[in-house]
Amino acid sequence: MPGPFRIEVMHGVNLDMLGKREPEHYGTLTLDELERQIEGFADEMSMQTRFFRTNFEGEYVEHLHNLGELVDAVVLNPGAWTHYSWAIHDALATAALPAAEVHLSNVKAREPWRALSVIEDLCVSSIAGKGIEGYRLALERLRDELDGRST
Ligand code: DQA
Repeated sequence: MPGPFRIEVMHGVNLDMLGKREPEHYGTLTLDELERQIEGFADEMSMQTRFFRTNFEGEYVEHLHNLGELVDAVVLNPGAWTHYSWAIHDALATAALPAAEVHLSNVKAREPWRALSVIEDLCVSSIAGKGIEGYRLALERLRDELDGRST
């Protein structure tokens, strides 16, 4: 697979409220600022990023349907959908792309209902509780995965 690898970064429900919502869990950056940081991480790794955000589950699903050949891999933070949206699970399975899941907060150490991720089984990496750094780790993991597939 010729580089640079193309990565779709998909933020789901309520993540547009970053900067205003529960800074003790999610930090103080806005989603725009977070995306610029992720873009910077990707630049350092010579990877290309595209960003998508929505509060509508069906739009998230349809975006996964339409990724097709446009990107090589996907980073997902679906917000609360992570814990119950089998529709997003099935759409991700259909997309059949290498995927990494990121959560800013440590979902396993919060309310019990956050401990389940319905997309974890489809992801080469699931990172939680490392804040923004989690996105860098996810990009590194996907780069290694894609490098492995191209050799
Ligand atoms: C989150 C964790 C989810 O449990 C929560 O519903 C979110 C954000 C995170 O990034 O830590 O909206 O995905």
